[in-house]
Amino acid sequence: MHLGRTTLSKFLIQQLAGAGDQGKLAALLVDVAAAVKAISAMTAKGALGGFLGAIDQTNVQGEQQKKLDVLANDAMVTATEWGGLVAGLASEELDEPYVIPEGFARGPYLLVFDPLDGSSNTDVNVSVGTIFSVLKHDRDEAPATIDYLQPGASQVAAGYAIYGPATMLVLSVGQGTHGFTLDREIGNFILTHPNLAIPEDSSEFAINTSNARFWEPPVHRYVTECQAGKAGERGRDFNMRWIASMVAEVHRILMRGGVFMYPKDTKDPAKPGRLRLMYEANPIAMLIEQAGGAASTGRHRLLDLAPEQLHQRVPVILGSKNEVQRIVRYHAEYARGEDKPFVSPLFNERSLFRTQEFL
Ligand code: AHG
Ligand code: MN
Ligand code: MN
Repeated sequence: MHLGRTTLSKFLIQQLAGAGDQGKLAALLVDVAAAVKAISAMTAKGALGGFLGAIDQTNVQGEQQKKLDVLANDAMVTATEWGGLVAGLASEELDEPYVIPEGFARGPYLLVFDPLDGSSNTDVNVSVGTIFSVLKHDRDEAPATIDYLQPGASQVAAGYAIYGPATMLVLSVGQGTHGFTLDREIGNFILTHPNLAIPEDSSEFAINTSNARFWEPPVHRYVTECQAGKAGERGRDFNMRWIASMVAEVHRILMRGGVFMYPKDTKDPAKPGRLRLMYEANPIAMLIEQAGGAASTGRHRLLDLAPEQLHQRVPVILGSKNEVQRIVRYHAEYARGEDKPFVSPLFNERSLFRTQEFL
């Protein structure tokens, strides 16, 4: 039994005991946790729940939606729209921000979320997650899209749920990053991982190497040096991981360090990265920084970016501080022409890359 241990509600009451709207923020996070429990139950049923598979519908990104993408989105909306805590919602699965229906009061926060991250993994029973970001909305008027376009540094809370062997909720309200494990029998999240701290150094990196031919030289340089291991520049062996669920990669990094990269590449010039700034990169960057790690595009701190569009994509490089700083340095050295020459059969015309507009 967990009597006496810190539940999510107790933790939030303790961390958000201040004046103003902090109590409402605590209540909103409890509502988000309610949605997470519902999504956890659906994902855990697997093939028995009838929730697997895709539907004949694409989202605003042009990606085919899974049944669970839509159900998870509905769970988040239903759990948070009613309570007078949010002024509006925005989601990966909704083209435009969700307007709080007539009859429900509006509150002081905006909730932005990826209802199901890594949803290509649902059909193969691999960990998926939910990512969320909370922003302040200080006007009485209903929010317009522009009200959502706040830099990540303005987030008042951020978190993710991971639906793995155990369901966990990892969140920050700006005072460290903390992990809670769902006790399914009593339905409570219990604080099991307080004050997460990412080791500054690491020998583990995660990147989708099938995109290697599209990478920029600084990313090639970093990965090549890791692969060279003990005999190479780094003088030690590295491990590589790729789960194709950012939440799962980030969770591993919060537990034991490492680097995760979905960098800028040339695969599709219209897309400056794979991941979305508002509901993937920003909330995760807040959690990573609050745990002592770093999060960058390779050229700029993620949390400093001024968003231009709700669904905009961004390069993401995050994790153990010293490794991220090294990759950022490689980008700077490349821009100054100071990096060691790297000649790949596929990338031997460096001028092609020099002319690109960098984020
Ligand atoms: P989503 O399922 O919300 O669209 O996000 C999936 C993301 C992220 O979780 C993961 O790191 C990445 O896409 C996987 O990309 P690849 O399919 O290129 O491996
Ligand atoms: Mn996602
Ligand atoms: Mn998603």
